[in-house]
Amino acid sequence: MCGIVGYVGHRQALDVVLGGLRRMEYRGYDSAGVAVLDGSGALTVERKAGRLANLESELGLADRHEPGRFTGTAGMGHTRWATHGAPVDRNSHPHRDSSQRVAVVHNGIIENFATLRAELEEAGVEMTSDTDTEVAAHLIARAYDDGPTAGDLPASVRSVCRRLEGAFTLVVSHAGEPGRIVAARRSSPLVVGVGEGETFVASDVAAFIEHTREAVELGQDQVVVIGRDGYDVTDFRGEPAQAKPFTVDWDLSAAEKGGHEYFMLKEIEEQPEALANTLRGHFADGRVVLDEQRMAEQDLREVDKVFVVACGSAYHSGLVAKYAIEHWTRLPVEVELASEFRYRDPVLDRDTLVVAVSQSGETADTLEAVRHAREQKARVLAVCNTNGAQIPRESDAVLYTHAGPEIGVASTKAFLAQIAANYLVGLALAQARGTKYPDEVAREFAELEAMPAAVRKVLSTVDQVRDLGRQIAGSKAVLFLGRHVGFPVALEGALKLKELAYMHAEGFAAGELKHGPIALIESGLPVVVVMPSPKGRAVLHAKLVSNISEIQARGARTIVIAEEGDDTVRPFADELVEVPAVPTLLQPLVSTVPLQVLAAEIARERGYDVDKPRNLAKSVTVE
Ligand code: F6R
Repeated sequence: MCGIVGYVGHRQALDVVLGGLRRMEYRGYDSAGVAVLDGSGALTVERKAGRLANLESELGLADRHEPGRFTGTAGMGHTRWATHGAPVDRNSHPHRDSSQRVAVVHNGIIENFATLRAELEEAGVEMTSDTDTEVAAHLIARAYDDGPTAGDLPASVRSVCRRLEGAFTLVVSHAGEPGRIVAARRSSPLVVGVGEGETFVASDVAAFIEHTREAVELGQDQVVVIGRDGYDVTDFRGEPAQAKPFTVDWDLSAAEKGGHEYFMLKEIEEQPEALANTLRGHFADGRVVLDEQRMAEQDLREVDKVFVVACGSAYHSGLVAKYAIEHWTRLPVEVELASEFRYRDPVLDRDTLVVAVSQSGETADTLEAVRHAREQKARVLAVCNTNGAQIPRESDAVLYTHAGPEIGVASTKAFLAQIAANYLVGLALAQARGTKYPDEVAREFAELEAMPAAVRKVLSTVDQVRDLGRQIAGSKAVLFLGRHVGFPVALEGALKLKELAYMHAEGFAAGELKHGPIALIESGLPVVVVMPSPKGRAVLHAKLVSNISEIQARGARTIVIAEEGDDTVRPFADELVEVPAVPTLLQPLVSTVPLQVLAAEIARERGYDVDKPRNLAKSVTVE
């Protein structure tokens, strides 16, 4: 939530900053703003409510090249997802102090801002916004102007950080210090990009990937000062601190649309690769291997209960995994919404394995669930798509999904990769506990490895599904039904449609229909049914066929996702989308894909921005 970027180098900062914001707009699009230091003591700021495009048109090309205005090789920018204060111009970042010499952009929430604001107002400071951020600008300016940190920008920032509570990343510039920018982080993401004669800070490497792949991951409660020639990291007390350098393993093309109409469609098409990359290297010498060996085989052997905690689509990936992990390991698996988990006193001890699934690795609810689990001495394994994010940092072990950057706000390739990674966890547990023989583990892994090809095959249905989406885009609601692993797929299909097309959509376990939801069925209502395999799950298949005939008899328009060659279902399908036959537990990897395409196309047809649904942001860093 909120994207921030800072730059000091040899290029025009405005171009670099706007380029970075374009790639981070998925983090929030309620407003955008920039600040540029021109070297002669001027700090120029522009900010505008709404999408980045509003800011860009406000800046206007002519203005940009006026002498002195936005000319300078140091600057910073922000793209906002509003928390404190409505998304209007005056609440947009950067925020400045009263003298307009300090500018601050911020991601996160300063929880004690009300106290700090009252203190500043008492001292005569006039606030110009409703945000929590503005207090930081005033406090830093005051620390810089007077007292023990006077004239020292990094020390001023550090002293203020020590007073702030909550989660925050701040980027700070001062008109009198054009050669450097100071940034600080606590529980919100911040990475440094190291180029030749230029240095960047950003919420996400995507902001600077076109300039450098050399990055540095900052630790908790660290402050970094960037200049043309590099960076310097300290803790909040000013002691030198270690930060971890890494090389980004994807390039600019991964963060661009590459000829696709929108990112989500590109990311749907990247799913075979996302799966292959997530599985790669995890089977060696006849065994499944997880990533970082911070959790020994012995730890896995001792596990007597598994919790999966996550939010949204990541939670659905956990629901899918429950079927596989319980089947393979005979361990009880509970799947919990991270936002509920810690508030209900779950029974945890050192033999509990908590799998925290998060694409961004930043989701506040999931992070708090991880902290709660660790306080209760449970072992936590993160499944994450973002190198070095906070959730893996605070977990005992991590298994990375290698889906690459996901820019579309609705999760697609990360979701499929999460299912694959969760399955690797299940196989590793089964292997450690001996509930599966090595040859069985090898066979399950080989079946997983065949999935990228199966998903590639499903992608050949994209045109059919898009056409179908256009036909039903005018409906007022859509229902989704499934059984067994098809049930979480139905939930995921409904979530995608809600968030993208702003339509009423519900997913149900088909067996529950007669216990209430069947009352919703009316003439012409589209109902999407995720069929199990007629061979793999014959009994369930027969029951679902009965369910479809019941809803069809009541006038519903049935859209059936079924295995190729499933002829029994044909008479009950007003529309049939065929997916390849795969083992039952792996079916979600193929049957989810048409539902993603359907939601995206309905949204497009209804005139909505598929990549940036209203009110949402990619990483939800507030509870
Ligand atoms: C839905 C979606 C969200 C995320 C959820 C968790 O399409 O993307 O429901 O899955 O916000 O996000 P992460 O995985 O980053 O923790």
